[in-house]
Amino acid sequence: MEKRYSRESRCYKTSRVFPPDVNNHNTLFGGKLMAYIDDIASIAATKHCRRPVVTASTDSVDFLHPIRPSDSVSLESFVTWTGRTSVEVFVKVIKEDLLSGERTVAATSFLTFVALDENRKPIPVPDVIPESEEELKLFETAPGRAEMRKRRRDESKRFAGFLSVNQPWD
Ligand SMILES: CC(C)(COP(=O)(O)OP(=O)(O)OC[C@H]1O[C@@H](n2cnc3c(N)ncnc32)[C@H](O)[C@@H]1OP(=O)(O)O)[C@@H](O)C(=O)NCCC(=O)NCCS
Repeated sequence: MEKRYSRESRCYKTSRVFPPDVNNHNTLFGGKLMAYIDDIASIAATKHCRRPVVTASTDSVDFLHPIRPSDSVSLESFVTWTGRTSVEVFVKVIKEDLLSGERTVAATSFLTFVALDENRKPIPVPDVIPESEEELKLFETAPGRAEMRKRRRDESKRFAGFLSVNQPWD
């Protein structure tokens, strides 16, 4: 199967922080940032697979620094690693104080997407080729993260089997 470079899936998005986007601390609402992350990551995954994809999981989103209305928020995403039918996407969130120009990595996240065929079944994806130092580092460390996800998924399935689906009014 055809291989694709990490750079071929790379996406960028920059936004302002408007009043409807902030929480009661007057910083960017975490849910808003998570929606931006899923959005840009799904574009990178689709560009790599050139197939419909679904989010299989989002690893923890680490909110490292608050993002304020005086900042711009820029997201960058690209495919870092591929399994058989899944791809790992890294998202880096950079805030920039628009008056001073100071930039900070405000959040990072890894997400996994699965490519689907016409019957919505998982289908093999092209391998990814890392090139830059950042891409190579993320590629080399990916099997460890995939292994952790597999363990977490098995635990989540066991846990879901234990949970009740009853509603309080049943
Ligand atoms: C993700 C989904 C397609 C996987 O389907 P499945 O029949 O369980 O498929 P498999 O067990 O064969 O797994 C397929 C691939 O997904 C990966 N995968 C499945 N669940 C995963 C998870 N929670 N985290 C990371 N990878 C996962 C598997 O490791 C496998 O990868 P590989 O082929 O590269 O080795 C299915 O669980 C699904 O549709 N989930 C809902 C997705 C959704 O609705 N997302 C939107 C968010 S609301």
